[in-house]
Amino acid sequence: MHISVIGCGYLGAVHATCMAELGHDVVGIDVDAGKVDLLNSGKAPFHEPGFDELLARQVSGGRLRFSTDYADVRDAQVHFIAVGTPQSEEGYAADMTYVDAAVAGLIPHLVEHPDGPTLVVGKSTVPVGTAARLAAQVGGSPAHLVWNPEFLREGFAVQDTLTPDRIIYGLPGDPDAAEASGAVLDAVYTSMLAAGIPRLTADYATAELVKVAANSFLATKISFINAMAELCEATGADVTVLAEAIGHDDRIGPKFLRAGVGFGGGCLPKDIRAFMARAGELGVDQALTFLREVDTINTRRRTAAVELAHRLLGGTFSGKRVAVLGAAFKPDSDDMRNSPALDIANAIAGQGARVIITDPAAGPKLAKSRPDMDVAADAFEAAKDADLVLLLTEWRQFRDLDPAELREVVASPQIIDGRNVLDPAAWRAAGWTYHGVGRP
Ligand code: UDX
Repeated sequence: MHISVIGCGYLGAVHATCMAELGHDVVGIDVDAGKVDLLNSGKAPFHEPGFDELLARQVSGGRLRFSTDYADVRDAQVHFIAVGTPQSEEGYAADMTYVDAAVAGLIPHLVEHPDGPTLVVGKSTVPVGTAARLAAQVGGSPAHLVWNPEFLREGFAVQDTLTPDRIIYGLPGDPDAAEASGAVLDAVYTSMLAAGIPRLTADYATAELVKVAANSFLATKISFINAMAELCEATGADVTVLAEAIGHDDRIGPKFLRAGVGFGGGCLPKDIRAFMARAGELGVDQALTFLREVDTINTRRRTAAVELAHRLLGGTFSGKRVAVLGAAFKPDSDDMRNSPALDIANAIAGQGARVIITDPAAGPKLAKSRPDMDVAADAFEAAKDADLVLLLTEWRQFRDLDPAELREVVASPQIIDGRNVLDPAAWRAAGWTYHGVGRP
C-alpha cells in the first residue's frame, strides 16, 4: 500500500520505516529540511538501537523516502499523523500547534483512492476530544479519520512498532465509515494481525484515552514504588526486596517497580500533566487529582538526590567536583527531554559545584547544545578527582563499572546510585560509601 507519515521525529521516523519494513511504499513528511536530508541519506537523527540498519535498508531498497513537500503524499491511501504534542509554554496542557498544522497541511492533498477509502490516522498522543474535532475538519475531504495511538518506548521503538502489545482503532461513529476504515487499516497491519497481535476497536474518545490512561498508570506505578522508597529510607527497609516481593503477585507484576530518581522523557511527565489539564476542562479534575501527587513524588526524587549530594559533600557544593554518570532520561537513548539526570546535574552545578557529566549516547549532543557544561568521554574521565559520583541513568557501561578501578581515580570514594543498579556489598567492599534509593 502507499502510505504517508506526517512528522518524522521519534515516532514518525520509526513508524514510517517500520511500515516500509512491512512491505508498504512510504513517504515521510517533515518541515525540517535538515532532518529530511539526513533520513534520505539513511541516517537516523537520534540514537535508537536497531533503527539505523532498518532505515538504511529501506531507504536504499527504494520503499522509503522523506520530503518537506506535502504534495508528495499524493499517491498515499493512508496518512499517519505522527507529530509531537509537547507541554505548552503557558501551562500543563498539550501544545496542539503541530497536530493542527499537520492536518491543515494534509487536507488540500486528500483525494479519492482507487482501492477504497482514504484514511487520516492519528498516532500522536492528544487530549481526548481531539479526534472528534479533527474529524469535522477532515469531513469536507474524501478521507475518514481514525485514531490509532502508538505505545512505543524509546530504546525499543522498532520492536514496539512491529510487535506491539495491542493495536487500537478509534473509528468514526457512522457504521459504514467505521467498517470501511477498519478494513483499510487491517490491510496496513495484515502481517501483524496475522501474527496474533490483539486488535481492539473503539470510538474516538476511548482510543485517545487508552494512551493517556496507560501512561498515567505507568507513571503511577513508578511514583508508588518511589513513595515506598521514602518509607524504606525512614525505616531502614529495602525497596528493591519489597518491589520483588510484591511483584510476585500476578495482580501487581514486577515491571515498572524500579525505585530511583524517577521518570522523565518526552512522554510520561507531559502526558500526565496534559491529562490533568484536559480533565479540568471537562469539569472532572477531581478524578485526576492523584496524578498531581504522582508528579510531586516524581519531582521530589530529584530534589532528594540533590539534597543527599549536598549532605555528603559536607553541606556545601562550592569548590566540589561532582561526576554525573548519565544525561539521557533512560539508557539506550540520547533523549534528554525532562531528564532526571540532567535536571539533577543542573541543580548541583547551579549551586556551585563543578559538575562533569558523561553519557554514552547523549554526551556529544550535550556538548554541542550546552557549551557551559563539562562533558567527559566516559565514566573514568568524569570521575577523575571527583568528591562524589552520581549514577543517574542506568547504562550498561555504568552498571558494569569495576568499583576498585573507579576508586583509583576519584578524590573521595562516595557514590549515589540513583537507579539502584549497583551491588552495594561489592562497592562497599571496594571502599566506597554507597547510597542507593530506599535501600540500606
Ligand atoms: C513511555 C511508555 O512506556 C510508552 O509506552 C509510551 O508510548 C511513551 O512513554 P518512554 O518515555 O520511552 O515510554 O520510557 P519508559 O521506558 O516508559 O520510561 C519512562 C521513564 O520512567 C524513564 O525515565 C525511566 O527511567 C523511568 N522508570 C521506568 C523508572 O524510574 N522506574 C521504572 O520502574 C521504569
